[in-house]
Amino acid sequence: MINRSYRVDTGVHPTTADTLPFWLIYNTGFRFPLSSVPMIVLGVESSCDETGLALYDTERGLLSHALHSQVAMHEEYGGVVPELASRDHIRRALPLLEQTLDQAGIAKADIDAIAYTQGPGLAGALLVGSSVACSLGLALDKPVLGVHHLEGHLLSPLLASERPDFPFIALLVSGGHTQLMRVDGVGRYTLLGETLDDAAGEAFDKSAKLLGLGYPGGPAISRLAEFGDPTAYTLPRPMLHSKDFNFSFSGLKTAVLTVVKNHDEKVIANICEQDKANIARGFVDAIVDVLVAKCVNALRHTGLKRLVIAGGVGANKQLREALNAAAAKRKFRVFYPELEFCTDNGAMIAFAGAMRLEKNPALAVRDYAFNVRPRWPLDELEAA
Ligand code: KG4
Ligand code: ZN
Repeated sequence: MINRSYRVDTGVHPTTADTLPFWLIYNTGFRFPLSSVPMIVLGVESSCDETGLALYDTERGLLSHALHSQVAMHEEYGGVVPELASRDHIRRALPLLEQTLDQAGIAKADIDAIAYTQGPGLAGALLVGSSVACSLGLALDKPVLGVHHLEGHLLSPLLASERPDFPFIALLVSGGHTQLMRVDGVGRYTLLGETLDDAAGEAFDKSAKLLGLGYPGGPAISRLAEFGDPTAYTLPRPMLHSKDFNFSFSGLKTAVLTVVKNHDEKVIANICEQDKANIARGFVDAIVDVLVAKCVNALRHTGLKRLVIAGGVGANKQLREALNAAAAKRKFRVFYPELEFCTDNGAMIAFAGAMRLEKNPALAVRDYAFNVRPRWPLDELEAA
C-alpha cells in the first residue's frame, strides 16, 4: 500500500483526511487548498492506435506510464484499420494497467479516480478505453471522468520539468488536428485559427506515402529530409501571408505529388534516394516555415511571450530547431512536451483528468454510464 502520510499537511484533522476519499471530503464541505489534497489518477488513452495507461499523483507527479503502439500492426495497410485497433486495445489494456501499477508500486485500491479519453477519435477504439475505465471505476467504487484528447495534448507540456505558466499560445499539431489556441487556464481555450483541410500530421503522412516511406510517415520523412538539399525543390508555403491564423496543407501534399509525378523515372520506386531526400527536405522546410510564421504572428497579435507545442508533429526535429531559433531571435519562450509525451499516451490523459478534478471536485462522480464523442470540437469543452 502507498504511504499516505503526506496528507498530514492539509490543515484538516489528519484522521479525517486520511480516512475519507478525496471526493467525499470535497462533497462534505471541507475546503482544502486544492493543491494540498493529493490524489492518484489513472489515465486511459485509446483514441487511435496507441493504448496508454498512466498513474499521476497530484503531489508527486507522474508515478508510471505504459504504452503499446500498434504501428507495426497497421503498417502493412498503410494506415490505421479501426477494427484492428479496437481489438488490440482490448488485448493490451489490462496487462498495461498491471504494468503501471507494478511500476508505481501501488495497488488498484490506491487509485482515487480514473480519467479516460472520451473523444475525439475512432469510435470503437474510444469505446474500449471508456468501458475499461468505467468497469474499473465500478469494481473499485472510484469516480470516473471523460477527458478530451486534445486537452490532454494541450496540457502535456505541463508534465515536463520546465512548465509554462498560463496564459500561453499553443500550437496543436497532430495527425487529425492543426490548431492555434490561446490558453488562459485549464479548459479556457480560445481558438485563433486552424487548418482548413489536411492536418499537419496528415500532410506528413500523405507526403511520406507518396515518397514510398512507411506508416506513420512523419518521423520517416523528417529523418530523410536531413540528407536533402534545401535548394533542390522549393515547395509552396500555403497561406503563409494570409492575415489570419489558419492553415491549409492539402496543396502542399499535391505539390509533392506533382514533383513525384514529373520526375524523370515516373515511378516512385525508381527515384534515387538522394532525390527522395531532396523532396522530403522541400516538404519539411515548407511546412515548418508556415507553422513557425503562424506561431510568431499569434504571439505578436496577443502580446504573449510563451509558446507551447503539443501533438505528434511536435516531436519533429526540424520544427523544434526552427522554433528555437525564432524564440531566440524574437525573445519568446517555447515549451515542448517530453518527446515520449508528444504522441498519444496515457500520462497526458491522467494529467488532464487530475487538473480538472483539482479545479472542480464536483466532476468526481460515480456515474459509470459512458458515451464516447468521436467528434468533439475543443471549443465545446467546458471550462474547468
Ligand atoms: O498526436 P498524435 O500521436 O496522434 C493524433 O492524435 O493524431 O500524432 C500523430 C501524428 C502522425 O501524423 C505522425 O506522422 C506525426 O504525428 N508525427 C510526426 C513525428 N512524430 C509523429 N510528424 C513529423 N515528425 C515527427 N518526428
Ligand atoms: Zn493525439
